[in-house]
Amino acid sequence: MGRARPIGAALVSWVFLVLAGPAAWAQDLPEGDAERGAYVFQLAGCLGCHTDSANGGAPLAGGRVLNSDFGSFVTPNITPDREHGIGNWTLAEFDRALRDGIGPDGTTYYPSFPYDYFTRMDDQDVADLYAYLMAQPASDNAVGDHDLSFPFDMRFLLFFWRMLYFEAGPEAADPEHDETWHRGRYIVDALGHCGACHTPRTWLGGADTDLYLAGTGSGPDGDLVPNITPNIETGIGSWSELDMMLLLRAGLLPDGDAVGSDMAEVVRNSTRALTDEDAAALITYLANIPPIDNKPVRGEP
Ligand code: HEC
Ligand code: HEC
Repeated sequence: MGRARPIGAALVSWVFLVLAGPAAWAQDLPEGDAERGAYVFQLAGCLGCHTDSANGGAPLAGGRVLNSDFGSFVTPNITPDREHGIGNWTLAEFDRALRDGIGPDGTTYYPSFPYDYFTRMDDQDVADLYAYLMAQPASDNAVGDHDLSFPFDMRFLLFFWRMLYFEAGPEAADPEHDETWHRGRYIVDALGHCGACHTPRTWLGGADTDLYLAGTGSGPDGDLVPNITPNIETGIGSWSELDMMLLLRAGLLPDGDAVGSDMAEVVRNSTRALTDEDAAALITYLANIPPIDNKPVRGEP
């Protein structure tokens, strides 16, 4: 009897802690700079997902439909409109959404919002990004609800997804590599979230890390997303640095064709803006990840 009570209390508080998530997310963030934030914004590709360009939607006003194996997601309005956008959000609330996937009202976000990548962003980039977003024109566009298949329509299941796949915070430094490599990894894994499309997902929607950047036949909208590891046969191991530079800057493939589908948008909104230094860092990093032999087949994972 006497022993059961503390154990019971510990269990209750553990369950409470787990359900409530990490209580203290509030971090001390530095002052943001909107001009620097513009660059973070480009590399992170916020514009494409949060703008319904196909229907002439206002920038960042949401309403773009993203189709996935789990159903279709409608992106929210992230302009500084106080009612329909995020105009009422504090920097701390924005930070928690972006790096912890939890909204101001406690909503747990689906990883269709790639916060499992953005969680690796550093404090300064988050503060700069916030300053930039808050300086954009507001739009009062009201967006509809997601249309997800059972059981993925139940947000509380994200609790399990988070336990299995979500690791908050930056990636650990690797003493074997230099600053350029680390910057490249940061651009690929934190800002550019290249893996959100180029790494296959498990049936629960988590990144299949054994196939890091090795491509998938079931990318966004069912697209085939190629293997971008340095494997010579099935990846991009035979590409020169110039080939890679032309892709990032101009969306050109080594055979002279233009890159298509979602990647054309990634180039237009993001990689085109890379500084010379950052482009070189990205290229260095990608050339040094494990070469994986994987040829994605449309419709397969
Ligand atoms: C791959 C598409 C995609 C990208 C890229 C993306 N988002 Fe989102 N975002 C979403 C989706 C989908 C949701 C809704 C998630 C949900 O309902 O669980 C969302 C939700 C949000 C929310 C929560 C809004 C609310 O009203 O609760 C914020 C804030 C946000 N995104 C900001 C950003 C920022 C800033 C960036 C760039 C750093 C970004 N997003 C990049 C798809 C994306
Ligand atoms: C929104 C999904 C998405 C994101 C994010 C994304 N890609 Fe892609 N990528 C694609 C798709 C789809 C293709 C295939 C395009 C085609 O069919 O022409 C592609 C093609 C490529 C190719 C050409 C490979 C080949 O063999 O033809 C390279 C290189 C590449 N991406 C690199 C990157 C890098 C680096 C990043 C991160 C900065 C990135 N991608 C982010 C979807 C994405």
